[in-house]
Amino acid sequence: MQSAIDTIKNTIGENFGGAAQKLSTHQFSLDDVPDLTGKVAVVTGGSEGIGYGCTHTMLKHNIAKIYILSVSEEVVKGAKNAIAEDLGQEAANKTQWLQCDVSDWTRVKDMAEQIKKESNRLDILINNAARGIMTYQLTDYGVDRHMALNHMGHVILTSHLLPLMKRTAEQGNVVRISNQASNAHQATPSDTKFENLEELNRDLGPNGQYGRSKLAGILYARYFNRHVTQAGHPNVLMNATHPGFVSTKMSKDDIHEPYPLGGYAMSVGFEPFKKDQWDGAVSTMFAATATDKSGQYICPPAVPESGNELAQDDKLADRLMQLTRQVVMEKTKRQSADQGCPFDDLVFH
Ligand SMILES: NC(=O)c1ccc[n+]([C@@H]2O[C@H](COP(=O)([O-])OP(=O)(O)OC[C@H]3O[C@@H](n4cnc5c(N)ncnc54)[C@H](OP(=O)(O)O)[C@@H]3O)[C@@H](O)[C@H]2O)c1
Repeated sequence: MQSAIDTIKNTIGENFGGAAQKLSTHQFSLDDVPDLTGKVAVVTGGSEGIGYGCTHTMLKHNIAKIYILSVSEEVVKGAKNAIAEDLGQEAANKTQWLQCDVSDWTRVKDMAEQIKKESNRLDILINNAARGIMTYQLTDYGVDRHMALNHMGHVILTSHLLPLMKRTAEQGNVVRISNQASNAHQATPSDTKFENLEELNRDLGPNGQYGRSKLAGILYARYFNRHVTQAGHPNVLMNATHPGFVSTKMSKDDIHEPYPLGGYAMSVGFEPFKKDQWDGAVSTMFAATATDKSGQYICPPAVPESGNELAQDDKLADRLMQLTRQVVMEKTKRQSADQGCPFDDLVFH
């Protein structure tokens, strides 16, 4: 149990940059990332913002290979140039871009299969790409875009990569999966049940929509811990993280999509208090390279937090994952489920 004073210190340290972080009870810094020689990682959204902070940090610590899944070629080119300038061309050459909209589930499956063919190991999976605090939309599959991208696309990616990660762990390695969640999970409506697609497709407004998809990342980690880590795979870990309040395209530009004027409070007003992408990468780097725990919700720098009441509800996690399986199976029946989609491997252990 945290004391009241520790709770205050951690709340400040978790969310803001600079000296504030030194207040937290559990310290970790990017310099504490261990040597990653020989290891292979996959990072969704590894081209920009916090994801780029992770990509750069892992290259700096000698990782052998990073697959980046993202959408924009221009952004990825910029990232590769920045890495080449900063860490050298050899480091930049260790990144391989796979163009993939994570809300396009068939494409996600194809990219995972390509990685499985090319790589004989996978040590780190960072489920980071997301739609931020933005308006309600449906994907071509007819599913709320926040859930389809931030949660379900990543479950598909993880499920298809899981056999490779289990093999990597069986060879004597610790495999770590990190879901980028957020303290914004607290904006999830309290009557959330994850009962059916109609419920998922209700327009909750930008904060509710985003918050619920971030809650899903925390519940997925708890679920995975019970159904995979504790069920015979002690060295395949999954945790969820909150990065803090970080200055990125998401918090500076995308926020104006739902709030053209009101968004200035977040994009400009809070800018001096936000973390940069390096501080924003710290909790993820702890979860992806250092922790020996699974099923936790980790706030910066490395503080295990309980999350709100919904985030601790294992029955809700079970329903979320049942619904995830059901919706993905229904929507991708022809392209995926009928061709050996490994959902059973993950969802019904
Ligand atoms: N910034 C914050 O304060 C904050 C706070 C809490 C949690 N988070 C979480 O941190 C994570 C990273 O956010 P960020 O702030 O670093 O945002 P960002 O700078 O906007 O970066 C987002 C990354 O995700 C990729 N991406 C976006 N949509 C995608 C899609 N449909 N398919 C594949 N890749 C896609 C982007 O690639 P393209 O450019 O190619 O689209 C980009 O690389 C997100 O999960 C976010 O929810 C951020």
